[in-house]
Amino acid sequence: MPNTVIEAKNLTKTYGKKSAAFTALKNINLKIYEGESVAIVGKSGSGKSTLMHLLALLDRPTKGEIYVDGKNASNLKNNDLNKLRNERFGFVFQQFFMNANNTVLENVLLPLKIAKISRKERKKQAEAALKIVDLESKMKNKAVDLSGGQKQRVCIARAVVNNPQIIFADEPTGNLDSATGDKITDLLFELNKKQGVTLIVVTHDEDLAKLCNRIVRISDGKIISDQTVRKDYQKQASRKRETEAARVRNANEKKGGKK
Ligand SMILES: Nc1ncnc2c1ncn2[C@@H]1O[C@H](COP(=O)(O)OP(=O)(O)OP(=O)(O)O)[C@@H](O)[C@H]1O
Ligand SMILES: [Mg+2]
Repeated sequence: MPNTVIEAKNLTKTYGKKSAAFTALKNINLKIYEGESVAIVGKSGSGKSTLMHLLALLDRPTKGEIYVDGKNASNLKNNDLNKLRNERFGFVFQQFFMNANNTVLENVLLPLKIAKISRKERKKQAEAALKIVDLESKMKNKAVDLSGGQKQRVCIARAVVNNPQIIFADEPTGNLDSATGDKITDLLFELNKKQGVTLIVVTHDEDLAKLCNRIVRISDGKIISDQTVRKDYQKQASRKRETEAARVRNANEKKGGKK
């Protein structure tokens, strides 16, 4: 069996209090396995973004727990949550596009700055991430001056710059023309297939959903279906683990050789 990377147990989220209270998620149970690509699909207002925020540890549930790699994240302090998110997760959420007055490069290297990577190294990695999304030429521009599709691509670069284990994407192709949308989609699935990154993507787009190996449908805050379409991701995930193990071995050998 592949590893479970995220598990939601009896998740309930209620917004507001008393007569204004609204329960957006009702007793959700969900396991996400390493290397999967999972589409979360449902009507507007069904609770998709709420679920993403909880799974990504950006918000806390009213009831229930989230486990990351088998560890209960509910008890973590904010500092530890921030660290965990920064090291392991990448986000492609439109509302998280920040620092409009900073340059594109500064925006992309932020996760590395938080992780205290050296100045030189973080510039190198951020440039490489911007190359992937074809935005090297805009590196020094202010983020605010980019087009919508370019901003979306900066979000992707920032999401991948710290080699996350899981990428959360909320409508990554929303508001984009189909060519740019396809490019973003290709990028996300390339990371999933080639690097074994677990992909969790909220989408209205059935074509995008069909590219995922699993489709979870939500209605009124409940999971109404959970379909694993393909299981080939498991091979990819285990291959990725092997390559990762080989990489670590090689690095250790090199270190050993230098001594
Ligand atoms: N901060 C909040 N306070 C009160 N209600 C909220 C809050 N955030 C979301 N809701 C409500 O919770 C429900 C689920 O919202 P959510 O944003 O998760 O929907 P969604 O499935 O992502 O919809 P969309 O496809 O339109 O983005 C909606 O009815 C929404 O109005
Ligand atoms: Mg939403």
